[in-house]
Amino acid sequence: MKGIILAAGKGTRLYPMTYPVCKPLLPVYDKPMIYYPLCALMQAGIRDILIITPPGDDRDDFEQLLHDGSQFGIKISYEVQYVARGIADALILGEEFLGGDSCCLALGDNIFYSPTFHLQLQEAVRSVEEQGKAAILGYYVDDPRPFGVVEFDKTGKVIGLEEKPKMPKSNYIVPGLYFYDSRCCEMAKTMSPSARGELEITDLNRLYMDEGNLNVILLDRNFVWLDAGTAENLLEAAETVHAIQKGERKYVGCPEQIAFYNDYITSEQCYAIGEAMKNTGYGRYLLWLAKPEMF
Ligand code: G1P
Repeated sequence: MKGIILAAGKGTRLYPMTYPVCKPLLPVYDKPMIYYPLCALMQAGIRDILIITPPGDDRDDFEQLLHDGSQFGIKISYEVQYVARGIADALILGEEFLGGDSCCLALGDNIFYSPTFHLQLQEAVRSVEEQGKAAILGYYVDDPRPFGVVEFDKTGKVIGLEEKPKMPKSNYIVPGLYFYDSRCCEMAKTMSPSARGELEITDLNRLYMDEGNLNVILLDRNFVWLDAGTAENLLEAAETVHAIQKGERKYVGCPEQIAFYNDYITSEQCYAIGEAMKNTGYGRYLLWLAKPEMF
């Protein structure tokens, strides 16, 4: 399975912050927002990742930050989305990159945290690879109206999907992390734009649902999911990451940590990255990860 991060949104709901800086490059507490979805893909065991960026200077900024991914023991490539055609368009843009492989699509502004997240990720990957079914996540919120909403029956079978419904039929929203088989590019190409002119990811998920090929994996109530798309949410996301890191003394959204634990990089490599930014808490955390005996 390969990964795609859609990081091309203008972030209009974050103006004026996003006039000069693309949303996924904004900080969420102590690291750029894109680190969080990148870590979700890495935790799913994905090592070949395409980042879809806006045109212009932003692309260079992403490359300056993430390079070719080798520092995290993964491969990162880049593609530009010239016209904001919606989330499902990422799969069309990524067709050549995927080369017939299955795909996990992540949105650049979604943050996930749970000590057991890897279990849900493994379940989602198995859904695609072993059962041939796409997988989405379901997360309980008090007000689901600004999101994609999933309705399911008592057996957990998905029976309805709606994008930003005025009268939601459930409180479970669909976070921005989607798992598809190799047909996703072809299916996305058959879709028509919605009233807001976008290829809606909810419409693609509905195609899988109509075939009976969509699983929903529910995240429990103490799971942390955040969409950092507004100033209020961005602040909440930063505060949440800060509180978790302080409470657990473990970093959230730290790709070097996943790379080191998964043996993608050696302790020497991890140490060298930490050394280069040792006047930050992040850098010192990497030094500690690599050589705890020195502390
Ligand atoms: C998008 C999707 C929506 C999903 C949300 C998650 O919404 O369209 O289905 O629930 O991301 O963050 P948008 O951020 O484009 O409003």
